[in-house]
Amino acid sequence: MSVECFVTGGTGFIGQHLVAYLSAKGHTVRVLMRRPERLAALREQVGNLGGIATRVFAVAGDLERDNLGLSFADREMLRQASVVFHLGAHFAWGLSLEHSRAVNVEGAKRVALLAAEQKSRLVSIGGYMLKNHEHLQRIGIDLHYPGLTNWPAVYRHVGAYEGSKLEAHFATLELMSAKGGEMTVVHPATVCGHSRTGHILDGQPLVALIRNLVLGKLTAVPGTAEHWLPLVTVDYLVELVAACAFDPAMRGQELLALDDQTPNLRELLVQAAQPLGLKSPKHYIPLRLLRLLLRIHPVARFLNTNPEALDFIQTTRFDTEAVEQFAKRHGIAKPDIRLSLQHTAMFVNSYCIPKGKDVNRPRIRGGCSV
Ligand SMILES: NC(=O)c1ccc[n+]([C@@H]2O[C@H](COP(=O)([O-])OP(=O)(O)OC[C@H]3O[C@@H](n4cnc5c(N)ncnc54)[C@H](OP(=O)(O)O)[C@@H]3O)[C@@H](O)[C@H]2O)c1
Repeated sequence: MSVECFVTGGTGFIGQHLVAYLSAKGHTVRVLMRRPERLAALREQVGNLGGIATRVFAVAGDLERDNLGLSFADREMLRQASVVFHLGAHFAWGLSLEHSRAVNVEGAKRVALLAAEQKSRLVSIGGYMLKNHEHLQRIGIDLHYPGLTNWPAVYRHVGAYEGSKLEAHFATLELMSAKGGEMTVVHPATVCGHSRTGHILDGQPLVALIRNLVLGKLTAVPGTAEHWLPLVTVDYLVELVAACAFDPAMRGQELLALDDQTPNLRELLVQAAQPLGLKSPKHYIPLRLLRLLLRIHPVARFLNTNPEALDFIQTTRFDTEAVEQFAKRHGIAKPDIRLSLQHTAMFVNSYCIPKGKDVNRPRIRGGCSV
């Protein structure tokens, strides 16, 4: 069965893979694009990722604009969409509260309103920290009445990107409940490259970690032997997201997409270093000390690390029974995370790290920046 899908964030890392997957399954995919003139490049990339380029179309718009900045004609055409996938977000460290709210919170509400008005299923991408209720309470979120949360204080605590993602989640749930809309939320762990090709885009937290390892900037493991950075591969994630969209049992449900076989952080670095013939750090640096050091600007610059990234390194373990059962029910195989990490490390080393005299050359097409 072929259906019409509307995707925000379809030019981003997870989005490109989702658009490729949906189009390969025969669906028509309309992508919200701030720069629709880049459709040809997106189609080429969709083709590279195994999708069907001719099933992909651009819809000019912007999450920051009223009614997403859609033209009247596009707004009418989107009414045919059975599913709205919301992946668009400004994903970066060091954002301002105003900007992150404008894109990530108000943008999410605009997409939710569109989905609710036309009775499309909304599939929204949250983040795995939303499944760590102790953490949410610790940073000041009122889980019973999220509207009573002092959001600016939460933003100051966890950074504007993460704060805005958390606020967006609760604001979207509230809006969809008020409008009687249908919604499913998938909460991914930090996303690892494609399990076979290692494909990943620059700007992803895992790229920054592997790049620091390759450049010798990671001389100690942040945290302790109990700390880990939970991962999920991008290909497993998009299969889960797509299955959620067409499964009636997932209406009103939230799914944690996290691979509990992810090794602890030290072993993760061993896996990433091994195919590159690199040594991985053996000693640990307490997170508190690292945070203090990162307040010293030259140290932060040298270590190439942002304190906001450290919040995702933690000791909490998650219950993944639901996702295992869901994947089994839909025949979705979970890739080997250690092998996927090795492939990702090789991809990052080949395409995301400028080498010698190539430093000033543009990156290759199909590489890390496309
Ligand atoms: N990657 C992870 O580890 C991870 C983990 C958990 C949750 N998530 C969530 O998953 C979603 C996708 O993440 P990603 O890693 O694929 O991010 P990404 O690669 O940074 O892509 C972000 C996407 O959002 C679009 N976007 C940004 N600002 C926009 C605006 N004002 N209007 C319209 N589109 C806009 C970008 O479009 P342009 O091409 O125009 O810039 C791009 O397509 C996000 O919601 C993120 O919070 C990601």
